[in-house]
Amino acid sequence: MTDDNIVVWHNSYSIGIPLIDEQHKELIRLTNQLFASCVAGRESSKASFMETIRGAVDYIGYHFSTEEKVMERVNYPDYLSHKKEHTKFVKEVLIEVDDFKSGRSFVPNAFVHFLKNWVLAHIAVCDKKLGEYLINLKKSGSLQGITLRVKQEANGQRLVIR
Ligand SMILES: [Fe+2]
Repeated sequence: MTDDNIVVWHNSYSIGIPLIDEQHKELIRLTNQLFASCVAGRESSKASFMETIRGAVDYIGYHFSTEEKVMERVNYPDYLSHKKEHTKFVKEVLIEVDDFKSGRSFVPNAFVHFLKNWVLAHIAVCDKKLGEYLINLKKSGSLQGITLRVKQEANGQRLVIR
């Protein structure tokens, strides 16, 4: 871990589903990128921080929609409560972004720590539970043949849950 990183990927964060693990790694990378633009501490870093936040918000939306599509596709029993966690988090992030844009009481460091803590706690509880459910489905053969389409930026990509 360098001074510019507040979080590093650890194998214990894996939920056993490569598609989702890869996206979680990207979330961690974005959190570190935000942290790096915080510690830069220069006035000029405001623009880069805003740009990084925008990228992070977009990616968070993309990642949540991936998980939600997977949950819907497999009729995940905790879909609604899991989705509610996502929605609540996005709302909180957008409030912070708004505070930042308008120059209200926004503390970049506190925001990045909030982001890091939320992501790790969410992976450890909600996403692990989803991972276990998917792994059990996989073991019972119920995931066979299931694919889902996730639109990634400009080009549509076919992603396999397995
Ligand atoms: Fe999630």
